[in-house]
Amino acid sequence: MRRVFGGLTAVDVEHLEIPRNAITALIGPNGAGKTTLFNLLTGFDKPNAGSWSFDGTAISGIPAYKTARMGQVRTFQLTKSLGLLTVLENMKLGATKQTGERIWAGLLPFLWGRQETAIEEKARELLARFKLDTKEKDFAASLSGGQRKLLEMARALMSDPQLVMLDEPMAGVNPALTQSLLDHILDLKDLGMTVVFVEHDMHMVRHIADWVVVMAEGRVVAEGPPESVMKEQAVIDAYLGAHQDVDLGVVTGRHAGELSAEGRELAEEAGEVDAAIEADAESHGEEDAR
Ligand SMILES: Nc1ncnc2c1ncn2[C@@H]1O[C@H](COP(=O)(O)OP(=O)(O)OP(=O)(O)O)[C@@H](O)[C@H]1O
Ligand SMILES: [Mg+2]
Repeated sequence: MRRVFGGLTAVDVEHLEIPRNAITALIGPNGAGKTTLFNLLTGFDKPNAGSWSFDGTAISGIPAYKTARMGQVRTFQLTKSLGLLTVLENMKLGATKQTGERIWAGLLPFLWGRQETAIEEKARELLARFKLDTKEKDFAASLSGGQRKLLEMARALMSDPQLVMLDEPMAGVNPALTQSLLDHILDLKDLGMTVVFVEHDMHMVRHIADWVVVMAEGRVVAEGPPESVMKEQAVIDAYLGAHQDVDLGVVTGRHAGELSAEGRELAEEAGEVDAAIEADAESHGEEDAR
């Protein structure tokens, strides 16, 4: 599959398989082509060349709304909830095969009333699972960034998908919520779904992925189980950098744990950077005050 933007080849993948009922992490540096690959596979963008299939059915060129009906849903790196609809309304949009959406049937409530009730029930169950049930009447615009990520994931599940593709589900989410997001992703696998997720935090990847695909400059440069892939020199060079043995969760105080000498060094460096940023902000604040 190949996708070219002007002179830039964003995706050039020769062959890729996503294992069924497993969690696959798609990793790689910024600009590696991860989101573009998601867009292509889900029909949000069209490749210059290539073909792909889902569950044995060729779906090349099939638009996003149809691939979603076939059981393949995705979330976005930047969330796309509808701010001026309530949380519950956003959820109901995720349901498929709604009789009331047909133009004539829509005028006849007895045709879809019972289905509407069932959809609402399902939406409320999912909202409760994602701890958003108290927000059901709030506008989606009033949710925090992390809550919007949760809402988008909950909404994706309204269509009973087989394959869930999550583009940076943890990005911008409060560390206190990341653990529950991780649990939700593991739950999806327990429920029999297949999950592909893009993530930059290597410790998250190690904790939950069964399979890791590494992209760089549009290509798949490595794939395999996390333990072995993350030891490959090419992957370390391309992506993980020198600090790959240091748990950034511990450095940032998100997880309890012992810091190695290298970790302490990194924490100090991070502290210095923070202090510099703060000092800079303060001096700007003074300028603004003047
Ligand atoms: N619509 C577009 N028009 C032109 N260039 C694009 C477009 N979309 C993506 N690109 C380019 O394609 C390359 C791959 O981008 P992509 O968003 O897929 O990367 P990514 O791996 O998701 O990165 P990140 O980790 O930062 O999200 C980048 O160089 C990007 O600038
Ligand atoms: Mg991206």
